[in-house]
Formats: sequence, structure tokens, C-alpha cells
Amino acid sequence: MIEIKNLTKAFGNFKAVDNISFTVGKGETFILIGTSGCGKTTTLKMINRLIEPTSGTVTINGSNIQNEDAVNLRRKIGYVIQYIGLFPHYTVAQNVSIVPKLLKWDTRKIKEKIEELLNLVGLSPKEFRNRFPHELSGGQKQRVGLARALVADPPVVLLDEPFGALDPITRGQIRAEFKNLESLLKKTMVIVTHDIYEAFELGDRVCLIDGGKIQQIGTPKDLIFSPANGFVESFFSSHRFQLELQVLKLKDILDITQKREITIKKVKEFGLNDSLLYVFEEMEKAAPTETMKESILRVKDESGKPIMEATTEGVMSAFYILKSRLQK
Ligand SMILES: Nc1ncnc2c1ncn2[C@@H]1O[C@H](COP(=O)(O)OP(=O)(O)OP(=O)(O)O)[C@@H](O)[C@H]1O
Ligand SMILES: [Mg+2]
Repeated sequence: MIEIKNLTKAFGNFKAVDNISFTVGKGETFILIGTSGCGKTTTLKMINRLIEPTSGTVTINGSNIQNEDAVNLRRKIGYVIQYIGLFPHYTVAQNVSIVPKLLKWDTRKIKEKIEELLNLVGLSPKEFRNRFPHELSGGQKQRVGLARALVADPPVVLLDEPFGALDPITRGQIRAEFKNLESLLKKTMVIVTHDIYEAFELGDRVCLIDGGKIQQIGTPKDLIFSPANGFVESFFSSHRFQLELQVLKLKDILDITQKREITIKKVKEFGLNDSLLYVFEEMEKAAPTETMKESILRVKDESGKPIMEATTEGVMSAFYILKSRLQK
């Protein structure tokens, strides 16, 4: 879907992006992560030609974007810019309808689409449609930015720190809502973040950049358990244990967990794709006074059929077994 080959951007003698290559598959969520100034925004802006590369190519759906009209190209790519960038003198509705107006949609279609999108991002159209950006909180502005990027239903969406302006609690909530948005499930997305948890929660694959160069591309599991170099290892070192629990899912430990007989007792239930971190947090919340030996959980498959019951202790032991295998 998106193919980036030997892309470089130099400002004078300084290479902000230095010969990077990667591909993003159709429907994939690809994360660019790294410390401030490493070249994330510059990379993203080369995908919709807001920045022209010094060398290298970007191909979308088989066609080199250099051969396309830049304005036309940008209408087909949703873009959530860092620091939101709403037009201050436009209302919410006007901000969201910029692209549809350029595309000359009729007024009724625009109005309907705005209603639909504002509802989608959790802003009641009646209440918010006619407000100006200065009448919104940071999180609400961010939602308008997201609505604007999605309005023309583009197959590709680029998001630069889309949750950057939010406090950690709101951030977590919006991220969870975002992840489940039906209209985003099939989109090809490149998301920039410097938040490790966000990267691992949203990304199918994660690309860690330092000094304009790619340090590693892989699944969250690859980056944690098979770091390509010392930089990758140290980048994730401060939250290592939590990240290990986050990247491993219940389906990863199914075979090595000591199982109990499946009962009809009312116990906490989980899905195969729930992370171990989520499982332990939820078990702790459900029965904070129970020991790990006493607390029992059930795992169900996609169709809702119970496939395993185990104690929290059993899951923790399985985690340590798997971890020692993966680290070999
Ligand atoms: N127009 C420009 N002229 C000169 N240098 C630039 C220009 N734009 C960006 N840079 C430099 O290129 C480097 C990469 O910038 P970029 O905005 O891509 O970083 P980033 O990874 O997005 O950082 P952040 O997390 O802070 O947003 C930085 O060192 C920046 O100072
Ligand atoms: Mg940036």
C-alpha cells in the first residue's frame, strides 16, 4: 500500500531523515516512534508531500507520489497534524468541511457527513457544530482534528501525535475509543507518537527511529524480546516488565498454562487477544484481596466458547516460562 524507499531529507548539511525504507500493508497500523527531533514528523510529511524529499521515493498503491498533483494527493490522505491546527476563525463544522468543500460535495451531503463524524468522535453535533476552537478543550479540539482527517473517508490516514494534547487519563480513554472505531478498522494508518504504551497498544508494527535512521521495525513483541541493538534495548528499558506483560497476549501462553477444569462458576472472563498486563490489572481490580493462587479467570475464544480456566498464579508462571523461551 505505502512503500518508502531510501527516503532522505536534508536541511543544509543536516539529515533529518537519513535513508529510510519501509512498507505499510493495506489496513495496517504502522507506528513511528523515537525521541524528540529524530525525524518522525519529517517522515510523515513526505508521505503527503507537505515536505519534498531530498532523495528516495514514496509509492502509494503502486504509483509514485511525485507524479501526482500534490493537492490532489492530499485530498486522498487524511492527516491529523501535530498540535491539531484548527482554523481559529472557522467553527467546528467549517473546520471539518474544508476538504468536502474542495471536493465540491453538495451542501446536504456535507451537513450529513459532519453530523455522522462528530457523533463518531463523541461530540454532539447540536452542542459543538457552531463552536469555535477557542471554545473547546484540548481533547475536544483533538477530536475535531480527527473528524476532519476522516471526513472524506480516505484509505490512508497519517496521524502526528494525535493524542498529544491530552492528560494521561483522557488519553487512555480516547485511545481505547479510537482503537474500536469501525471506520478506522480497515484503514492504512501511520501514527507518530513518543508514547511507548500507545505505540504498542495501537501498532501492528512499530518503527523505532533515532537520528533520522531506522533502528528497528517489528511487532511490539519483536522490539521487546528481540531488540536489534543496544539503542532499542535501552529505549524500552525503563518500563521493561510492564511492556513485556503488555506485548504478550493470552493466546501466547495458552499451551503452557496449567489449566483447571472448566466450571460454570461466575469468574472474570477474557479474550485471547487480551494482554497479560490487562489481565493482571483487571484481576487485581475484581478481587484485590484474593491471592494469585485463589483468583480464577476464564478465557474464551472468538466465538465466546470457554477454552481455559486458570489461576492468576498459573498465568504468571506461564509468563515466566514463555519469557525465558523468547529471550533465548
Ligand atoms: N525546516 C527545517 N529546517 C531545518 N531543520 C529542520 C526543519 N524541519 C525540521 N528540522 C529538524 O529536523 C529534525 C527532525 O524534525 P522532526 O520535526 O521530524 O522531528 P520529530 O521526530 O517529529 O520531533 P518531535 O517529537 O519533537 O515532534 C529536528 O532536528 C528539526 O530541528
Ligand atoms: Mg514531530
